[in-house]
Amino acid sequence: MMGDLPVPRSVAIIMDGNGRWARSRGLERIFGHERGIQAVRETVEECARLGVTSLTLYAFSEENWSRPQREIDLLMRLLERFLVEERKTLMDNGVKLLHVGRRERLGPSVLARLDETIALTAANQRMRLGLAISYGGRAEIVDATRRIAEAVRDGRLAPERIDESVIRAHLYRPELEDPDLLIRTAGELRVSNFLLWQISYAELHVESVCWPDFRKEHLHAAFRAFGGRVRKFGAVVP
Ligand code: FPP
Repeated sequence: MMGDLPVPRSVAIIMDGNGRWARSRGLERIFGHERGIQAVRETVEECARLGVTSLTLYAFSEENWSRPQREIDLLMRLLERFLVEERKTLMDNGVKLLHVGRRERLGPSVLARLDETIALTAANQRMRLGLAISYGGRAEIVDATRRIAEAVRDGRLAPERIDESVIRAHLYRPELEDPDLLIRTAGELRVSNFLLWQISYAELHVESVCWPDFRKEHLHAAFRAFGGRVRKFGAVVP
């Protein structure tokens, strides 16, 4: 709780609707992504201020690689810019950056900026920020399975020792807590291959505004809705 606002420990957000936001104003889609950065900054600052301990943002999915090359290039350039320009925001707010996803298809320049910002913020303690870039939930489970199979093959792990905690430990960033709340903007009722393992017990909140219009008032509304839910984790609540 922060005052009378319930605050989830761990939050994940599917930042959808940048393209629609721009198109509805007669602009190119990329302007929507560019505007989306403001919403990212405000959300990161507000989550850190309110005491969220893990925030994971879906910035670029495995599926997004099939977008037109021009949009991919522009998104990558925007990400790169974000990773440099937001360093001060991350440091001022005690935010530790983590990458969630595959590195293979990312260009050397994005990877360099990502690694520099991760190293710079490594000692920050207030909030962990997972940026999902080149991320797919099924791909993550595939990658974890491969690493578990290698451990078994090499005699480091007995198959009967594989349980949920072993699988969790092999996901990309086990230090990010499983989301208590998953927010999606732009009204779509889909999970879109995001954090499939981790959202098992997350509460879902769908906000109708497009991501560039997402303000801290919308974040607060999502937290209030979350606070009104009864979480049962499969059990019976009296
Ligand atoms: C979904 O909108 C959004 C994305 C695919 C990219 C998210 C990127 C940002 C919010 C900006 C950059 C982020 C960071 C962290 C620097 P869409 O293009 O799918 O929109 P549409 O569904 O309306 O077409």
